[in-house]
Amino acid sequence: MKREDLIKKYLEFFKEKGHKEVPNSSLVPENDPTVLFTTAGMHPLVPFLIGQKHPLGKKLVGIQRCIRTRDIDEVGDSTHHTFFEMLGNWSLGDYFKSEAIEYSFEFLTKILKIPIEKIAVSVFEGDKDSPKDLESARKWEDLGIPKERIASLPKKNNWWDPAGLTGPCGPDTEMFYWRVKEKTPKKFDPTNENWIEIWNDVLMQYTKNDEGNYMEAKQKNIDTGMGLERTIAVLNGLDDNYLSEIWQPLIKKIEKISRKEYSQNKKEMRIIADHLKASAFIISDGVLPNNTERGYVLRRLIRRAIRQIKNLSENKISIVEIIKPVFKIYPEYNLDEKLILKELKNEEAKFSLTIENGLKKFEKFVENKKELSGEESFLLYQSYGFPIELIEEECKSKKINFKREEFLKEYEKHQKLSQTASSGKFKSGLIDDSVETTRLHTATHLLNEALRQILKDKNLVQKGSNITSERLRFDFNFSRKLTNEEIKKVEEWINEKIKKGFNVKKEEMSLKKAIDSGAQAEFGTKYPERVSVYTIYDEKDPKNFISKELCTGPHVKDISELGKFKILKEESSSLGIRRIKAILE
Ligand code: SER
Repeated sequence: MKREDLIKKYLEFFKEKGHKEVPNSSLVPENDPTVLFTTAGMHPLVPFLIGQKHPLGKKLVGIQRCIRTRDIDEVGDSTHHTFFEMLGNWSLGDYFKSEAIEYSFEFLTKILKIPIEKIAVSVFEGDKDSPKDLESARKWEDLGIPKERIASLPKKNNWWDPAGLTGPCGPDTEMFYWRVKEKTPKKFDPTNENWIEIWNDVLMQYTKNDEGNYMEAKQKNIDTGMGLERTIAVLNGLDDNYLSEIWQPLIKKIEKISRKEYSQNKKEMRIIADHLKASAFIISDGVLPNNTERGYVLRRLIRRAIRQIKNLSENKISIVEIIKPVFKIYPEYNLDEKLILKELKNEEAKFSLTIENGLKKFEKFVENKKELSGEESFLLYQSYGFPIELIEEECKSKKINFKREEFLKEYEKHQKLSQTASSGKFKSGLIDDSVETTRLHTATHLLNEALRQILKDKNLVQKGSNITSERLRFDFNFSRKLTNEEIKKVEEWINEKIKKGFNVKKEEMSLKKAIDSGAQAEFGTKYPERVSVYTIYDEKDPKNFISKELCTGPHVKDISELGKFKILKEESSSLGIRRIKAILE
């Protein structure tokens, strides 16, 4: 069976049972700041699983693209993937255990035509949080699954906790497929690897609260998930997911370019294919490689793939050549090919420069030494963009002791420092005081001034600002669209200042003094009596400042750290308000 056939059958089956199809959401979760990526089909549905009314009703079906980062180190075997697709059906306070199990059974045996002898199931065995799930076990038995093929297992196996820290959760019942030709054993042994899990029905009857307690949920839901890659593999009698048509075009491409065989180089090729595919999807959902959060995961994936390519072949192979089959495997996603190729190419170039410089630094650090200190490894990580595992591997191959604990201490120290510097700044949402956001804060001040200068409008003020680790967003009052030439001039103005390397200083003063001295303030914001003012100035001529603004920071000390400023978009935000999105390259 092909990927597209399984998807079609699944959606059709549940639509016939009164389900409505939900869209396949972005990998960047919209409603959940506690996780970086969409990890399961239920994830975008969380608000509806806890009571909000879904516009499409109470019975939903869909296919969802997912990223699971906790499995990154497992990738390389035959079943783990960073990026995968999940089919699912949901009941939002509508049907519960009995129908959910019936639907699953019917789909497996009637639609996929899996013989009942090849199916086993597991149910929750019960503990202090929730009783043994006798009801599900009985239902499976009624449907014809023999008792010996129904295992009762603990939380570790048969429980779904929220994707984030709190939220809907509960016991689950899982379905397994006997993947080999030899006769199915009478008794189901979940540790036998020939039994492979293909579907999970989560019976959401609890809500996990802030204290970690499971509270009976007001609305009881069903959340099921069927991993597409795995199901396609087993339905086609394959014992390696990467042998299915979902992966083969990529694997074949890698074989062709490297002139090596998959059978001899499985691990490397799997990692390359997995990481590049995941990277393509992440980029297409708007994340760019950088040193924080999502961007860092992406950077790690790309760089790890590049390193595996180097392990695989001494020839110069670009990741851009390898990725192309992905666009054909997933035509319905309309992946942003141009952006993906551009970003992969950029990151590849950055990484090769980084490696060169970083390796030199590394050599210096370990000259006549047998260990790399936490400070040294943190510098490699922070300033040279070395992924942790690369540092680790370098140490290993040179027999140097890598002090992981010390590294983590340095990392935490850095996080704390930048958090104190900006306490109170991000009251809502994720606290993010990374190097990236700090740089973007300073860039926002430059942009604010550049607009006033280039558009020659003294009344132009900031009307809003929002910064993530990936980009800045700046709203200001102006009555028309900017011309391309104006945009270019604004960029040039800013980049010229960055090149000069002006300095940034912070002063505390009364609000009145700050305003009198000409500091810019955001229109409509209430400021306290005493404020901080950040000034960007020329150290050689301190009176010559280019920007002065009320702000809580944090900011860089020297704007030459900003790199290159680039405007991505200029658009209308509301009547008389324009919005700019920009990045630092
Ligand atoms: N949320 C469950 C899972 O991901 C079922 O969809 O396995």
